[in-house]
Amino acid sequence: MIKAINIIGTTRRAATRGLSFTRVNDLLLGAGFPTPLLVLSRSGVRRNIEQLRRALPAAAIHYAIKANNHPVILEEIAKAGGCFDISSYQELRSAVEAGARAGEMIHSHPIKSPREIADAVGEGVTLFVIDNPSEIEKFIPYAGRVRLMIRFKVDGGSAVVNLSYKFGCSEDEIVPLGIRMRELGIDYHGLAFHVGSQCTKSEVYVKAIKTAARQIRILENLGFTTRLLDIGGGFPVEYTQAVPPIRKFCEPIRNALRRHIDPGIAIACEPGRYISATTTTLVASIIGKSTRSGKNWYFLDDGLYGSFSGRLYDHCQYQTLTNRNTTWKRSVLAGPTCDSFDVIYKDILLPPLDIGDVLLFPAMGAYCSVSASSFNCLRKAEYVVIE
Ligand SMILES: Cc1ncc(COP(=O)(O)O)c(C=O)c1O
Repeated sequence: MIKAINIIGTTRRAATRGLSFTRVNDLLLGAGFPTPLLVLSRSGVRRNIEQLRRALPAAAIHYAIKANNHPVILEEIAKAGGCFDISSYQELRSAVEAGARAGEMIHSHPIKSPREIADAVGEGVTLFVIDNPSEIEKFIPYAGRVRLMIRFKVDGGSAVVNLSYKFGCSEDEIVPLGIRMRELGIDYHGLAFHVGSQCTKSEVYVKAIKTAARQIRILENLGFTTRLLDIGGGFPVEYTQAVPPIRKFCEPIRNALRRHIDPGIAIACEPGRYISATTTTLVASIIGKSTRSGKNWYFLDDGLYGSFSGRLYDHCQYQTLTNRNTTWKRSVLAGPTCDSFDVIYKDILLPPLDIGDVLLFPAMGAYCSVSASSFNCLRKAEYVVIE
């Protein structure tokens, strides 16, 4: 069971990066912005890039657009000299519109339709990720114009979202994939992995870096030059569970890169969640209430079909902040649609709430609005950008 947090006069205000209830009321609701509202902080994007850069100075940041493709996020990243990780043509176009260059992007989706590849190459993308022989064949028409990275799987057990079930070859398939590229006259560029999203153990990165180092040596003996190691995303943020500060979290990763990877090999990372999650707070209102079997039920104007889609696809539990400070009661927090499935929290400690009361949900900038739908023709939460 989770507990809502009262933020009046507590340090918990830090969770929303200074976005207090007073500020929400004065700045947004008082000015007529309707809830549900996603409040995105520009400076939050810059701060997160800076912090990750300091934590991992050896790695070029390629923001994973899939986490949140809001133009302001992409713009701030491009302005800060960051690059992009794309998984579709539409992501490519949105990064180009934000000022990024296609030639600096990594197309990291291991499975792409031939059409997707043609469009990306047509725009100037040259770096792609593959994890199987059939995918390499799709690049035959572009030999000499593209470079391929081999993605291998890692133990995804320490991440909330395992990304090595669907993607990544096994370690012993890496060399045969390199050899197949050579036979087809397609450039081998390097290795890639993804430890899984919201990975809370940096040892998983360390193990994967050691695997990469071992394979890089084997490949080198066979005449392959590795130019890039892409350590993926996965960097964790604080939701309802504490995580170490990013610099401390990355310390073993920094050491492993220094110890095991030749300094001539470039390093890239593909953070999505770390850059975007804490930039955005959801402001939502209670639109209905009821008492059922002794429990308080509250209905919110956003739910699982909307911004809380991350509860399903991203397996995420978000902090709930209230400015009511009375007795706490086991409650149910449900979404606004007519589907019974649309229940955000079946068991949450909430104070008594009234219709019109506002709740804040910090760190809802990653894997929330991108997977929201407008089921029941309900309006999706709109963004408002603050400095
Ligand atoms: C290939 C790839 N790179 C990067 C990411 C971003 O991961 P995260 O948001 O955990 O940093 C993902 C997430 O699905 C991914 O599939």
